[in-house]
Amino acid sequence: MPETIVIKSDVERNAEWRDAFKDYDINVCFWNRVADKRLVDYALVWKPEPGSLRQFSNLKIIFSIGAGIDHLKGSDIVPPGIPVVRMVETSLTAGMVEYVCYHALRFHRFMPQYERYQREQQWRTIMPVPASARTIGILGLGVLGSAVAQALKPFGFRIAGWSRTAKRVGGVESYYGDSQLNAFLGQTDILVCLLPLTEQTRYILNAENLSKLPRGACLINAGRGRHQVQSDLIGLLDNGRLGGAALDVFEDEPLPQHDPLWSHPKISITPHVASMTTPSCGAQHVRDNITRFRLGKPLAHLANMERGY
Ligand SMILES: NC(=O)c1ccc[n+]([C@@H]2O[C@H](COP(=O)([O-])OP(=O)(O)OC[C@H]3O[C@@H](n4cnc5c(N)ncnc54)[C@H](OP(=O)(O)O)[C@@H]3O)[C@@H](O)[C@H]2O)c1
Repeated sequence: MPETIVIKSDVERNAEWRDAFKDYDINVCFWNRVADKRLVDYALVWKPEPGSLRQFSNLKIIFSIGAGIDHLKGSDIVPPGIPVVRMVETSLTAGMVEYVCYHALRFHRFMPQYERYQREQQWRTIMPVPASARTIGILGLGVLGSAVAQALKPFGFRIAGWSRTAKRVGGVESYYGDSQLNAFLGQTDILVCLLPLTEQTRYILNAENLSKLPRGACLINAGRGRHQVQSDLIGLLDNGRLGGAALDVFEDEPLPQHDPLWSHPKISITPHVASMTTPSCGAQHVRDNITRFRLGKPLAHLANMERGY
């Protein structure tokens, strides 16, 4: 009898997910519509409720629909002993590369200022800065951070990355650990956050750390909303310490209607869409891993739940 995977995604994408598994020997069923819960072998989920995965008593692997696994942290979400695999797929990476490159170039070329000048019908020139005179610093040099670094390199920027452990990514200066954070921030003109949300990284984008950036530096946060202290950001943008911010993620999502971030002139907002898993590519990653599991091979991109990513 074929095995079964249960999927908890947005209802609108269920048909796409079903299609993406159609040539693979697995039954696909959707959350709250499972006939026999004991027959579920795998779960592919986004934000399951605490206790909800326990209903599948024969679960073998939990797959996260997103790259982050912070939605699976917390008591009674992942049943003890069940491995968690995070999402790594080409279109998710490509989407993040596009989002970050777009905003980095936008800041680099003073586009937020020029958009304001246009609204004010002002013909004003800002002297260009060569890419070689700018440093883009990437917090988190994992799958996404490394891909972004490689994509930005050909423009001629100086690229630095900060991670927990030392990295060798071609043309990228590696900073690592808490002791090198200040040196990394001190020379970063455009700061990109692509960290996972963990106890160590929560609120890392606070006034103390952001004040270590050169005056007028810009921030691109596509990690998680709880990386940033939103009131600190507003203060630093208002007093000119920060030149601008592109924010895709927020402490509370959806961003509440009356939040001051919405109307801040130096902030560009997107609703957590920097990159998204595409069912066809995401299913390929899940299928590859199930095949590995069936053959007794190690899983690819297994999350370390203790570490938090
Ligand atoms: N906005 C969106 O649409 C969107 C979409 C996808 C993902 N994301 C976010 O992007 C994050 C990164 O994804 P990924 O696939 O690149 O993850 P990843 O491959 O696991 O990379 C994480 C990176 O963060 C570093 N890191 C973790 N904790 C650290 C710490 N305490 N100090 C310094 N560095 C630390 C890791 O360092 P080591 O390698 O040395 O351990 C690694 O380089 C996700 O967790 C998610 O939050 C957002």
